[in-house]
Amino acid sequence: MGRSCLPKCGLGRIMGWLQIVLGGLVIIVSLSSLFKFYSAGFFMHNEDICRHFYGATEVYDGFDIRALNDRVGEVLNRMESLQVKLEKTVQQMEKEKDLAKTSVTKLVYKKFLEEEVIRPLYAAHISLRQIRLPKAEGIRNSTMKEEPLINTFVIEEIRKYITPKENRVGKVNIYGTERIYNTIGHACVLMKKELEEYMDYDIGSYCKDDWNVAQKLMVNGCDPLPRRRCLTRASKVYQKPYPINESLWKLPDGRNVRWSNYQCRNFECLSSKNPKRGYSKCTGCFEMEKEKLKWVNNSSLPVDFLISDVLGVKPGEIRIGLDFGVGTGTFAARMREKNVTIVSTALNLGAPFSEMIALRGFIPLYATLNQRLPFFDNTMDLIHTTGFMDGWIDLLLMDYILFDWDRILRPGGLLWIDRFFCTRKDLDDYMYMFLQFRYKKHKWAIAPKSKDEVYLSALLEKPPRAI
Ligand SMILES: *[C@@H]1O[C@H](CO)[C@@H](O)[C@H](O)[C@H]1NC(C)=O
Ligand SMILES: *[C@@H]1O[C@H](CO)[C@@H](O)[C@H](O)[C@H]1NC(C)=O
Ligand SMILES: *[C@@H]1O[C@H](CO)[C@@H](O)[C@H](O)[C@H]1NC(C)=O
Ligand SMILES: *[C@@H]1O[C@H](CO)[C@@H](O)[C@H](O)[C@H]1NC(C)=O
Ligand SMILES: *[C@@H]1O[C@H](CO)[C@@H](O)[C@H](O)[C@H]1NC(C)=O
Repeated sequence: MGRSCLPKCGLGRIMGWLQIVLGGLVIIVSLSSLFKFYSAGFFMHNEDICRHFYGATEVYDGFDIRALNDRVGEVLNRMESLQVKLEKTVQQMEKEKDLAKTSVTKLVYKKFLEEEVIRPLYAAHISLRQIRLPKAEGIRNSTMKEEPLINTFVIEEIRKYITPKENRVGKVNIYGTERIYNTIGHACVLMKKELEEYMDYDIGSYCKDDWNVAQKLMVNGCDPLPRRRCLTRASKVYQKPYPINESLWKLPDGRNVRWSNYQCRNFECLSSKNPKRGYSKCTGCFEMEKEKLKWVNNSSLPVDFLISDVLGVKPGEIRIGLDFGVGTGTFAARMREKNVTIVSTALNLGAPFSEMIALRGFIPLYATLNQRLPFFDNTMDLIHTTGFMDGWIDLLLMDYILFDWDRILRPGGLLWIDRFFCTRKDLDDYMYMFLQFRYKKHKWAIAPKSKDEVYLSALLEKPPRAI
């Protein structure tokens, strides 16, 4: 009886002590942060407090006050929840004491202390330590102080990443700049927790198999995503790809894909006949017999143009282009047969679109709608878009995208809008969007999709810009 009580009673006492210690810590943290404010002169110059709390920089005497404030709040919250958890545990143990012997083993006890007590305490400790003091002056010529964004994050890898990197030799580099900035999407701040989880790894070791987390961060606006210094996982049984004379129209080897984050485990499973295929856009894209008909066979719909007709508008002039949409590279395959090089955008929305495009022998551009396209002005002969930009899209967003496309399209280049669809009542708005650039209309077709929806296809040519 006495023996079985020992670990329990001991644990109870220790928990009690822990609570007292924690309470003390909370007080110390509060006091020390108060002291920091105090020593920074905050209780003496009231007008300064106002200026610096509400001013543009919010940096006072080397302190990023807002970050410090946020961080202290965060730590206090963490400690509070830890205290609540410990209290609950103690209560639970009190209850169990009355019942017969439910003894906690040493191992469980140890694990509990490590995971529920020590780790949160450590994290809280690190959080407070990591407030960096920005340099009072900018670096050399620059008058800009250190990026206050750094203090938003606790994980050291993110902080290192977004810290501007000075050139080793001083002076300017080949770009004519004094330092290199690694950028992250501003919405990363909104997903601080997820991003910190993503960036929490051992440098040089294997990454988690978490491309899906990365993609989620990206499509939610944390784009660009920081680079990582861990080794990406690959299929253990990766086979060399099929030669290019075979890869174009052959379903790739499923062993070359890591399937763990998809619903399917092989390419055959992605068939449109399988209701559990795990993706909804571009169903049928993984069936080569169906894909082979696209853009070469006359369809019953007037909105389906043939590649031969489109290229016939500008014989010999179309050599490079961008396919902006959801697909498995079939457009690139057909265009390759015409000696046209196509870069295909791809996101892995429920299926390995990027892997499929690459294994077929084309270039998958892993890009979201968030960003300016990584091509220079007036460079593309062709932009083809299908299956992605539909009637769901915000008109202002669409305006930015279309102007970006206009930017990269060369004078005389073709914009092929392929089966865009929207509700009938929205058609006028979207038509205005496409026509606002005063491109030459080579083809223009509208066809009903359903009772309320319509398809729109167009082949437009960017005019020369004389001025
Ligand atoms: C920095 O200042 C020096 C002298 O004022 C000037 O020669 C140099 O070009 C400046 N560097 C940059 C990157 O502006
Ligand atoms: C593809 O090319 C290789 C040589 O480059 C040849 O051995 C092979 O038979 C070709 N495959 C087909 C299906 O033509
Ligand atoms: C597609 O077109 C080819 C000739 O261009 C023809 O042989 C084939 O039967 C057509 N397929 C369908 C399903 O219409
Ligand atoms: C498609 O139809 C047009 C006219 O109806 C015809 O000239 C053309 O040869 C057809 N193309 C194919 C691939 O069937
Ligand atoms: C593509 O280029 C190859 C080699 O230059 C040539 O033999 C072939 O006829 C071209 N195909 C087309 C459709 O122009």
